[in-house]
Amino acid sequence: MSFIEFRNVCKMYPGSKTNTVDNFNLNIEEKEFIAFVGPSGCGKSTTLRMVAGFEEITGGGLYIDGRKMNDVAPRDRGIAMVFQNYALYPHMTVEKNIGYGLKNMKLPSNQIKEKVDWAIQILGLEEYRYRKPKNLSGGQRQRVALGRAIVKNQKVFLMDEPLSNLDAKLRVSMRTEISKLHRDLGATTIYVTHDQVEAMTMADRIVIMKDGVIQQVGKPMELYDHPKNQFVAGFIGSPQMNFFQVTVEGKTVRFQDGNTITLPDDSAKRLNGRQGQMVLGIRGEDVKLNGGDLDTDRTETQQAVITNTEVMGNENNLYFMFGGSQAVARVSKYELSRVGDSISFVFTPSKMHFFDPNTGINYMEA
Ligand SMILES: Nc1ncnc2c1ncn2[C@@H]1O[C@H](COP(=O)(O)OP(=O)(O)OP(=O)(O)O)[C@@H](O)[C@H]1O
Ligand SMILES: [Mg+2]
Repeated sequence: MSFIEFRNVCKMYPGSKTNTVDNFNLNIEEKEFIAFVGPSGCGKSTTLRMVAGFEEITGGGLYIDGRKMNDVAPRDRGIAMVFQNYALYPHMTVEKNIGYGLKNMKLPSNQIKEKVDWAIQILGLEEYRYRKPKNLSGGQRQRVALGRAIVKNQKVFLMDEPLSNLDAKLRVSMRTEISKLHRDLGATTIYVTHDQVEAMTMADRIVIMKDGVIQQVGKPMELYDHPKNQFVAGFIGSPQMNFFQVTVEGKTVRFQDGNTITLPDDSAKRLNGRQGQMVLGIRGEDVKLNGGDLDTDRTETQQAVITNTEVMGNENNLYFMFGGSQAVARVSKYELSRVGDSISFVFTPSKMHFFDPNTGINYMEA
C-alpha cells in the first residue's frame, strides 16, 4: 500500500449537481513531493482541503499510512499545512509565531524551545528571532509560516500556493529553499500551484487537473515529452507548444495554407493508419532554423517571415505565421533574427505530436 492513497475520491459541494473533484485516483509514496497543477477552479485546493480534513469527502476513500481518513478530525491526520494567505500573529515575535501551535498542543516549554530553535536555524531566521511580522520582508514572513508548519514534525506536508504573494525573484529563491527543506525533512508533500514552472522544478511527480479530473500523472519530463493529450501538451511548457490544424493523407501532412510535410516512417507507424483531420503539435525548440543539425535532405524545409520577437538573452522566441496559425521557434542568441526577416526551418520529425481534433488524445502516446 502506498503512503497516501486516493481511491475514487469525489467532491460534490452542497447545491451542486456535478462533482467538483471527480473520481480522483492517486497513490503517493512516502517522502514523495507531488505537485497538483491546473487552471484556476480545476479543484486543486478542494482536493488538498479534503486531505487536510477541512472539506468533507463526498465519495470514495482517502488513506494515509493505511488508515482511512474520511472521518478523522483534521488534527488527528498527522498533517501540517501552509496556505497562500498564511496569517501570522502580528503582535508576536518570529519565535512566538513559530512556537504557538506547539504551545497549543501543550508541549513542555523546553521541548518547544528545542523545536523552535531548530526551525529558526534550518530556515535561517536567527537574525529575526525577536522581530514582529510587520518588520519582515515577504520572503521572511513566508519562512516563518513554513517554520510554524515544520515544527509540528508531521509526516505529511500540504502547501497551497505558498509562494504566490511573493515577487518573482523571491519565488525562485523560496522554491529552492522549499526543495531543500523537503530533502532535509523527508515529509511526504503535496504542493498546489497553478505555476507550471514551480511544479516542473520542484516536484518528483506532477498531477495535472482540469475540471476536477486528473489529466495525467508523471515525472516532469514525462509530461513534457509525452503528454497524453492536447491539454497537457499546452499546459506544460512556455512558450506554449505550437498547434496546427492539419489533414493527414497517407504520409502527407497538409497544413491549412497548403504547405505539406512528409511524415517519417516511424511517426507514420505510430499513427497506425489514422487519416484525416488532426492537430499537429510541436514545441518551439523542435522548430529548427535552417534545418539545425538535422538531415534536411529527408525533411522539407519551410519558409516564413518573422512577425514578432521576444529576446530574453539566454532564450529567444521568434514568432511567425505558418500553416494558418501563429507559431514560435525557440532559438539561441546566435540565431536571432528581426521582425520582417525571412527564415527557413524544419520541424524535427520525431518530435511531432498528433492529437485527435475532438478528444485531444495524443495518438503518438496512445
Ligand atoms: N465552498 C464551496 N462551495 C461551492 N463551490 C465551491 C466551494 N469552494 C470552491 N468551490 C468551487 O469549486 C471549484 C474548484 O475550486 P478550487 O478552489 O478547488 O479550485 P483551484 O483549482 O484551487 O483554483 P485556484 O487556482 O483559483 O486556487 C471552483 O469552481 C469553485 O468555485
Ligand atoms: Mg486554489
